Amino acid sequence: MNILLLGSGGREHAFAWKIVQSSQCSKLYVAPGNAGTAEIAQNIPLSVTDFEGIHKFILDQNIEMVVVGPEEPLVKGLVDFLQSKPTTKDLPIVGPTQLGATLEGSKDFSKRFMQRNNVPTAAYETFTADQIDAGLAYLEKQKLPIVLKADGLAAGKGVLICLSLEEAKASLKEMLLEAKFGDASSKVVVEEFLNGIELSVFVATDGKSYKILPEAKDYKRIGEGDTGLNTGGMGAVSPVIFANEEFLKKVEDKIVKPTIAGLEKENINYKGFLFIGLMNDGGEPSVIEYNVRMGDPETEAVLPRIESDFVGLLKGIASGTLSEYELKISPDYATTVVMVSGGYPESYQKGFPISLPSSAEGSVIFHAGTVVNSAGEIVNQGGRVIAVTGFGKELEEALTNAFKTVEKISWEKAYYRKDIGQDILKLNELNPKN
Ligand code: AMP
Ligand code: GLY
Repeated sequence: MNILLLGSGGREHAFAWKIVQSSQCSKLYVAPGNAGTAEIAQNIPLSVTDFEGIHKFILDQNIEMVVVGPEEPLVKGLVDFLQSKPTTKDLPIVGPTQLGATLEGSKDFSKRFMQRNNVPTAAYETFTADQIDAGLAYLEKQKLPIVLKADGLAAGKGVLICLSLEEAKASLKEMLLEAKFGDASSKVVVEEFLNGIELSVFVATDGKSYKILPEAKDYKRIGEGDTGLNTGGMGAVSPVIFANEEFLKKVEDKIVKPTIAGLEKENINYKGFLFIGLMNDGGEPSVIEYNVRMGDPETEAVLPRIESDFVGLLKGIASGTLSEYELKISPDYATTVVMVSGGYPESYQKGFPISLPSSAEGSVIFHAGTVVNSAGEIVNQGGRVIAVTGFGKELEEALTNAFKTVEKISWEKAYYRKDIGQDILKLNELNPKN
């Protein structure tokens, strides 16, 4: 198969790494890709939102499957666009249509979907600017902390956890009346605060059947001990000890099954990955959010644990034959440590040459924001730059392998969190496997 993969992050390098290992892939193109994908596939200088350009490329290169990494082209309707063209209407695509992508593109839409389909989630109300008075009155009656969410995509910044009523009221006004998050906050979801430990669960679906991929824990804050600003994700661990068999069974029965059944019932054509962010509150799962793609950096820890043929999984999703696919998962640990540009998630300098080791024993190096400059050097180009995944029979070994490689990678002002996995390591010590 000739495959076109869209995106340029660590997630896409991990996808590319798995795809090229499959005997079913004859040629892989990545648009636009990064310096890491360039080493194993062919990068194409096409933007993920250049729908006409993507369509032309598919025809010119005889592309037989498209795999969409990030949410933006999905929310903007790439799949519907390709399906509306006679030449690509039946092309297998991994990624939902625009309506399906609204599960991520609108928090209000996804909350209403969960309510209609009895998926457990925090209590909420949605307000627009002309309902500001009702919104402020609603806040008065809620418990603290209270969560305010911009309805639309806000690059991961649209969620505020307010500790006081004053803060909540001021933030609601800023979001609705002063467009704090632009158009994304023209509607605001006001939501009950959920206590507990967060978990990322990944589901592959062809719209009818589904496969649950390995779960992962993400480390969202920039600073050690989960302090400082939110980022796209500073690390990931898979598997996660508190996600035991009993808890995962509840996730499947109370969340995954009604979600997939809801998609089918509501005629939402969903062929792709669904990322369910959830809270484990005393053993009960509750959905925080849906994302219509894989997580980053969770993908870099989750995909290496898939032992069955990855292109077979993608084909099953895109062609509606997922029920015939046998998913095989490794019981071993995979832990990902993300290295970022100094200053991220605020402003940072780009263009520093990156020194990379020639070998990475017990680990694999995924590129994210890297590019090859005119002198042929690999330099940092984004906030998150490199994601190293270490492997091991035990969590400690996987972490040691990841950090050993991280320590061999350097560029000016590089930063990473040294405490990735430490919280889970403590939980493991308290609850030994045997
Ligand atoms: P989101 O953009 O929906 O992923 O939210 C960003 C982060 O805010 C989540 O990963 C949680 O850590 C936190 N969060 C969102 N909603 C809630 C909630 N209802 N209760 C507690 N924390 C939340
Ligand atoms: N790591 C969280 C995300 O991909 O949204």
